[in-house]
Amino acid sequence: MTAPTMTSVNQATTDSAHEAQPGSAGQPVSMESPIVGTYKRAPVEFVRGSGVQLFDAEGRGYLDFVSGIAVNALGYDDAGLKAALHAAAEGLVHTSNLYSTSPGERLAAALVAKSFADKVFFCNSGAEANEGAFKFARRWARTKGDAKHEIVALRGAFHGRLFGTLAATDRPAYRLPFRPLTPGVSIFERDLAELDAALSEDTVAALIVEPVQGEGGVRVLDPGFLRELRAVTTSRNIAMILDEIQCGLGRTGTLFAYERAGIEPDLMTLAKPLAGGLPMGAILMTRAIADAIKPGDHGTTFGGGPFVASVALHVLERLSDPALLKHVTEVGAWFGHELQELARRTGRIRQVRGAGLMWGMDVMGTAAHVVSESLTRGLLVCSAGDYTVRLLPPLVATREELGRGLAILEEVL
Ligand SMILES: Cc1ncc(COP(=O)(O)O)c(C=O)c1O
Repeated sequence: MTAPTMTSVNQATTDSAHEAQPGSAGQPVSMESPIVGTYKRAPVEFVRGSGVQLFDAEGRGYLDFVSGIAVNALGYDDAGLKAALHAAAEGLVHTSNLYSTSPGERLAAALVAKSFADKVFFCNSGAEANEGAFKFARRWARTKGDAKHEIVALRGAFHGRLFGTLAATDRPAYRLPFRPLTPGVSIFERDLAELDAALSEDTVAALIVEPVQGEGGVRVLDPGFLRELRAVTTSRNIAMILDEIQCGLGRTGTLFAYERAGIEPDLMTLAKPLAGGLPMGAILMTRAIADAIKPGDHGTTFGGGPFVASVALHVLERLSDPALLKHVTEVGAWFGHELQELARRTGRIRQVRGAGLMWGMDVMGTAAHVVSESLTRGLLVCSAGDYTVRLLPPLVATREELGRGLAILEEVL
């Protein structure tokens, strides 16, 4: 077995004087991790963060364009988030879903007030939110016809890696070792004619769509295409589930990505930034879906507990601040333009795609190479497939910080 590598940890060298000099990963020290090897981890350990920077144990700063995979929207060491965490710690942490709590009720009310939804179910992660959405959609669809049970997903989709969601995730490498996958879940091309034929009113319960596919290469679905899908699903009594786990909550410059298409789904799933880094997912739904759900149909021990819900209340207020959304729209448009310029200047980028502060660029060579070369130069980026480099800076990133990242990318490319 190959032992993973980690950097040595030396707290004594952590020093803010190094902050101005983004540096390379520290000397790797071989040691076998007791954590199971589901991830190829980068050879660096972060010990603290500030704004859009993370710092390793030697005090080297890294500009973070990953944000814990679209989680840390407010960056690091945010004063408001810290205050919310401290305040939440003064209250109850957990009571279970056998009892209601004020933070959970208030968070659900805030999500309802800010979206299409009438009701909310809280859970603990993105995949768990999608699993629940599949169940809720099926429960509702069965009230329309006994055979209505199929879930349809799109080419390039990523909806999670649990048993049900894996069948809706279009990555052969993730799927093949675990066959047979959950039946009744199929993937179709992002093509209207093909979907029109696949979306049978008699058998399909739900269509699940990421308005911007994240893991599948940062593909922004055309608003017109989303509107067509909405029209077809509505006319055939098929629930439309929008997975906004990665693209929602301000990432594309509107609180929810569906706003850009002017449509409303029947269900929507959220997670990633919702509770500022604490694990939390949510399923938002219309009254029609919620009315089909009875006690015992679904459950979770931890979902929506008072601690995590109080923190999420703060995060939701911050992420729905019009000034922040305007900032994301403005710097995002500038960033996208600069990426196109980078493509033109370097000749090393085949295509740039994205919206707000969610961008992907198809590079010549592998994305993994750009990820590791950027890391050595003090910039964190991640991949979305073998050839797409994905950029997900904190939503508070300034033009100057984004520009510093672009300069490092130019060097790498
Ligand atoms: C669009 C989308 N859906 C679902 C998930 C799964 O979320 P989690 O990793 O919290 O289970 C992800 C994670 O990357 C995602 O991007």
